[in-house]
Parts: sequence; structure tokens; C-alpha cells
Amino acid sequence: MSKPRILVARAIFSDIVDRLREHFDVEANPDDVIWTQQELAARLADKDGVLTTGSQSVDAALLAAAPRLKICANMAVGYNNFDVDAMTAAGVQGTNTPDVLTDTTADFGFALLMATARRLTESEHYLRAGQWTKWSYDMFAGSDIHGSTLGIIGMGRIGQGIAKRGAHGFGMKVIYHNRSRLAPALEADCKATYVGKEELLRTADHVMLVVPYSAASHHTIGAAELALMKPTATLINIARGGIVDDAALAVALREQRIAAAGLDVFEGEPSVHPDLLTVPNVVLTPHIASATVPTRRAMANLAADNLIAFFDGRGPLTPVNQPVPGLRA
Ligand code: GLV
Repeated sequence: MSKPRILVARAIFSDIVDRLREHFDVEANPDDVIWTQQELAARLADKDGVLTTGSQSVDAALLAAAPRLKICANMAVGYNNFDVDAMTAAGVQGTNTPDVLTDTTADFGFALLMATARRLTESEHYLRAGQWTKWSYDMFAGSDIHGSTLGIIGMGRIGQGIAKRGAHGFGMKVIYHNRSRLAPALEADCKATYVGKEELLRTADHVMLVVPYSAASHHTIGAAELALMKPTATLINIARGGIVDDAALAVALREQRIAAAGLDVFEGEPSVHPDLLTVPNVVLTPHIASATVPTRRAMANLAADNLIAFFDGRGPLTPVNQPVPGLRA
């Protein structure tokens, strides 16, 4: 019997592509070409499955152009690049990579928070530019992490990881806002108190965004929300571009209506709003929160395992939808 045909849409670890080759007839993309939707559709015309990253959109038009496609395995925990309703209606399984990146991403959220509050990159640029000629009492004086109030918006696995780091490691008071309140045992574990969004924005010293992107969470933080925050507060976005109105944030940073921001994700990335590039009080990183070698390997392996389990008939390991089986032969 012939093997199912799989497309690996972006370059990933070559040994994991080799592992896929044991199960599938694989077309890979070792040169990491960024295909247009039309080029992707053409490659998917004869494929049974695809390994995607967050940079490929799977929508109704793509599904129509890929009549044999049965599964899209995303190498990311977020899957806002999938039109899940269209996939479910078309009988196409979606999977993601939860859990394997939780601690790495929570570590990074904390790294970005500390770099932002303590003005790490701004001070490093100053030193590298040869501007450091004398010590002064208020040179790059930032805000404290220990003992401050951390407000987390989005209290899933990563949000909880950040809460634990803050409460247990740094003695922070943790408040959170989420669609639903955590069970009391989880709240106790995270030492986190549920509050309304407005109260969180008004009282937190540091606001951390970890909410998944959807139409409902678009611009969770815009001009009105920024206006509620303390002028000394920092804002950290490790969630998704589009959760923050980047243009409004650039204005708030330039006018020092909040102290600083740390951003790993951007509206329209890899483009970055030009005004964010010119304000000094923002730390910018290129969507690397889960980027450690072991974690990126674990994500790629889980995406591969989803494909293997699905075609073995064991079912997907980490599904994001439940299409009616057999709609696609
Ligand atoms: C990264 O942003 C992910 O969703 O895994």
C-alpha cells in the first residue's frame, strides 16, 4: 500500500523530517521558502496531510484546493492561522502543540518582563554606543519586579506558569483576568486572585498578556485600556499580534503614559509598526518565546506524532477540533 503524502510547509529539524519519511511520502521545504497561498495550495493538491507553522493560513479556499487533505498539524500551541470552522465543516482534523512549550514560554515571559522593567536593552544600546562616561544616581532606573503586582490577562497553562514564577519566585502579588475563573485549588497553587479587567489594568504594576487570539480578543489592549494603566506600569505581550493595538501603544510609550512595554508578537509580523521601532522604552523580540532547542524539537516531534497517530488510526494526540470522520477519503 502506498504511503500517505505529507507536506512539511516550513524548514524544521532534518532528523524529524527523516522520521516522517519512515511513515509518509514527504515533500519538505529545506530552503524554508515562504510560499504564497497559491503556491501552498498547488503543493497541497495531492497531499493527505500537512505540517504547518503559525505562518501558513488554512482557510476555506485552501481546503477547497486540497481535496485529499485530512489533517493539518500545527507546530505551535496557538492556531489562529486555522479557520477551525471551515476545517471542521470540510472534515479536516487540526492539531496543535500544547504543554511541551509551557515552561519555556513562561520563562521567556518573565525574561521579557525583567528586561523591560529594568531597561536592559535600552541600557545596553547606550553602553555599546559609547555613551557611558560616568555613573549617575538615576541612570536607567526602572521599576521593581519583586513585591510588585503582576496582572495576567489569559490564565491558561502559560499564564499559570507565569503566575507561579511571579508569586513563588519573586514574591509578587498576582491578579488575573480570564474568560472563566480558575478552580479554587489552581488559584491557590498560583497564589492568584481573580479580578475584572478594568481593576487589573488600574492596579497592576506589570500587565502580562497571554490570551489566545480570536475576533473577541482583537485589541484587548487599545488606547482606552492603556489610559487605565498606571504611568509607571509595564505591558508585556507574548500572546499574539493583534491582541494589542500597536499604533496606540506606540503613542502611549512615546508620551510616557505607561513606562515601558516588552513585545514578542506584533500585528502583521514579521512587519513591526514603524513607530515602535523609534521609541526607546520598548523591548522588541521576533516571536521567540518558545525558542529553545529542546522545546522547538519537542514541538516539531509532537506535530509529527500527531500526523503519525492520525494515519495509524489511533487518532490525533492533541486535536483542536472534532470533524466528522470519513468526510474526506
Ligand atoms: C507560538 O506562538 C505558539 O503558538 O506556539
